[in-house]
Amino acid sequence: MNVRITGTGSALPGKILTNAELERLVDTSDEWITTRTGIKERRIAVEGEYTSTFAAEAARRAMAMAGAHPEEIDLIIIGTVTPDFPFPSTACIVQDLLGATNATAFDLSAACSGFLYGVSIAEKFLRSGAARKVLVIGSEVLSRIVDWQDRNTCVLFGDGAGAVVLEASEGDHSLLSTHTFSNGSFWNLLYQPGSGSRNPATESRTIDERLIYLKMEGNDVFKHAVRAMEEAALKALDANGLTPSNISLMIPHQANRRIIDATTKRLGLGPDKLFTNLHRYGNTSSASIPIALDEANRQGVIKPDSKLLMVAFGGGFTYASALVNW
Ligand code: ACO
Repeated sequence: MNVRITGTGSALPGKILTNAELERLVDTSDEWITTRTGIKERRIAVEGEYTSTFAAEAARRAMAMAGAHPEEIDLIIIGTVTPDFPFPSTACIVQDLLGATNATAFDLSAACSGFLYGVSIAEKFLRSGAARKVLVIGSEVLSRIVDWQDRNTCVLFGDGAGAVVLEASEGDHSLLSTHTFSNGSFWNLLYQPGSGSRNPATESRTIDERLIYLKMEGNDVFKHAVRAMEEAALKALDANGLTPSNISLMIPHQANRRIIDATTKRLGLGPDKLFTNLHRYGNTSSASIPIALDEANRQGVIKPDSKLLMVAFGGGFTYASALVNW
């Protein structure tokens, strides 16, 4: 049984935060952010908007494209590091919002690789016949765990969601492979120290020591990201007997323009084979690939029968790739 992406969707907050506005919050400049990251602006959730809000909207759009009814969905997987609550899962909240009454729903914690990890799990359910229609969603409201006093991190991240419907199919327009990897040796280079069992909430720890906020060793993460994304991409190509020249389009995790450029240079892929939108949204973690996928799909950038490569890297470290014959 093959597995096909039959619908894509995305949802973003209406509120835009530009680099110029960030200059008024922390000691930074549009010039620094643009040259070091490629980011010009990002979307920020407002009061009353949560991870589930964007997840449900992105899912509705993906289901509308797929012509899938909520009751037909067998499984909902949400990659997120910013769930509405530690529990219950945001996936259960989204199940309720959608009326997907026949689905099993769970969240998946793989940071920025959460969406591709979800696709890989969905693939196994679909190939085995355990599910017929699956929603995989990446959704984040990172603005609520970003330290708005830390210029090293607050300029990088944004909010939003992307989703796909995956279905069992017998045609050739299908998912060719998925690969997932983890390297737990570096878990403390990118993490949120507070809010879990290791540093339970207290006023001094959570607020005064600012443990509730995301921490990152940017330079180290950068180097690992480039090597890992190259490895994940090559694994996908090898598994399918392909070389970079066979790839029609690559959608990488949208973390930093320099990471993307260094990765594509190592792979020998030209800029014409790359889809990016991080200048408008920043790094939306698990949402970044499905948002870009939806935009590329709706803009007609992905041609039928083309080979689409998606590659992610995130905290954990986790990394992953998926190759699709579109
Ligand atoms: N504005 C102005 N100056 C800044 C800012 C800022 N926003 N942030 C840092 N600086 C300063 C630093 O303080 C430092 O100053 P110093 O030399 O006086 O100490 C200087 O700029 C250089 O800092 P570096 O950290 O060396 O800058 P670098 O070129 O490495 O860029 C960055 C930093 C953009 C964070 C880069 O390391 C990076 O992108 N890393 C990867 C981060 C990432 O993408 N993480 C997410 C991937 S995984 C995931 O998505 C979960």
